Amino acid sequence: MINLTINPDIKKGKINRNIYGHFAEHLGRCIYEGIWVGPDSDISNTNGIRNDVIDALKEIKVPVLRWPGGCFADDYHWKDGIGPRDARPVRINAHWGGVTENNHFGTHEFLEFCEMIGCEPYICGNVGSGTVQEMREWIEYMTCASKTTLTELRCTNGRHSPWKIKYFGVGNENWGCGGNMRPEFYADQYRKYSAYVRHFPGNSLKKVACGANCSDYNWTEVVMKNAAQFMDCLSLHYYTVPGEWNHKGDAVDFTVNEWHETIKKTQDMDELITKHSEIMDKYDPDKRIDLVVDEWGTWYKPAHGTNPGFLYQQNTIRDALVAGINFNIFHNHCQRVKMANIAQIINVLQAVLLTDKEKLIKTPTYHVFNMYKVFQDTESIGLDIHNSDIVLQQISSSASISSDGKIYLSLCNLSPTSPIEIFSSVSGKPPLKISGTVLSGNMNDHNTFNEPEKVKPQIIPDIKLDRNKFRAIVEAKDRS
Ligand code: AHR
Repeated sequence: MINLTINPDIKKGKINRNIYGHFAEHLGRCIYEGIWVGPDSDISNTNGIRNDVIDALKEIKVPVLRWPGGCFADDYHWKDGIGPRDARPVRINAHWGGVTENNHFGTHEFLEFCEMIGCEPYICGNVGSGTVQEMREWIEYMTCASKTTLTELRCTNGRHSPWKIKYFGVGNENWGCGGNMRPEFYADQYRKYSAYVRHFPGNSLKKVACGANCSDYNWTEVVMKNAAQFMDCLSLHYYTVPGEWNHKGDAVDFTVNEWHETIKKTQDMDELITKHSEIMDKYDPDKRIDLVVDEWGTWYKPAHGTNPGFLYQQNTIRDALVAGINFNIFHNHCQRVKMANIAQIINVLQAVLLTDKEKLIKTPTYHVFNMYKVFQDTESIGLDIHNSDIVLQQISSSASISSDGKIYLSLCNLSPTSPIEIFSSVSGKPPLKISGTVLSGNMNDHNTFNEPEKVKPQIIPDIKLDRNKFRAIVEAKDRS
């Protein structure tokens, strides 16, 4: 049993909608097959983009989408991806399976996709193998309204008005696949490249510096010390990896112990954000610079029989919990964390959608995004849980209030077996009505192309309001 008090008078900051962001890389079947099928495909599409994907992503209100990588970004040359598609060069995708990349999905296709689903584009530039000039020209091509040789090329390629681009990443994982740089070297590179990430009239960019991997606090320290004044955002990457990096656990076939290990590892996100934020506070006490967790999610061994370089994995109730826990953590750190991008949107790692030719399924993680979309741009509020530490360890929680006074409560039951009984009160004015939704199932439950609705949200029955109090039981099926 959990006793809690929601206190709407304690305001903790705005939950930026962008923490519900996504990431799409040229990796496996994310872009090709997942998003892009081409205009001549038999699969229903608009200008080459799958209609079922557009509809599903509009429903969850995707606020921002990061592209083209990932590791791919520091090996990507944007001019390969513009102009008539059949004349675009074919390259090797060296990071991901060594497959050929025909560049049919490039700048125009990505930005049109963002317009179709109504999200902000977040483009990641190439520092590892690209030049300052190349990065600068990409920004001019996309965002400049004046008549120049590059913008005329954009018009020739079908786009007259410039796009608005708000977020631009200056490299990806430059401590690893993006150039094996040391933080001192990256900080200097960042200073140089970012100087040419121009705000052309009518467009204002937020520049995102490459941040740390997991607990590499020295990276944050050095990059903040040497380049803070030139950045608007600093990234952080943290994946939840049960097992060892070279011997990862399975996405579906896992034990109760692996369940607990996964939950524990994903909760480490809280400590990582706390400690990186403390370092940022030293150099940026006014919190001008946003922390952007632009890669997060579960990473298991690739599904049996798939190309290991494609990082395709199934998605269970355990992944849904991972998503809920991370959202609660981001809500509770809303003063510093202003964006997060789950890796990755379709067919790769902790995807919200999986496709098989013309078929599409929504994963348990998708349903969490759909249930939590109400938190976008609400205000985080006080939530006191009056229980022992043991009970506290069984849940993850957060609460918020919208501008029209609706209160939202998120509770994740981390136990694989016990239901949660909630006794809650709301301080101040009593609410007028109440409703609740739950996503539950056995711990390995997942949706398949044959059984696409095995896991889906249900209305919580018998939830009643008694003035400012309510009681609800969140049933747990026998998750083990
Ligand atoms: O999301 C898969 C990969 O993980 C990305 O390309 C890279 O940035 C990270 O290591």
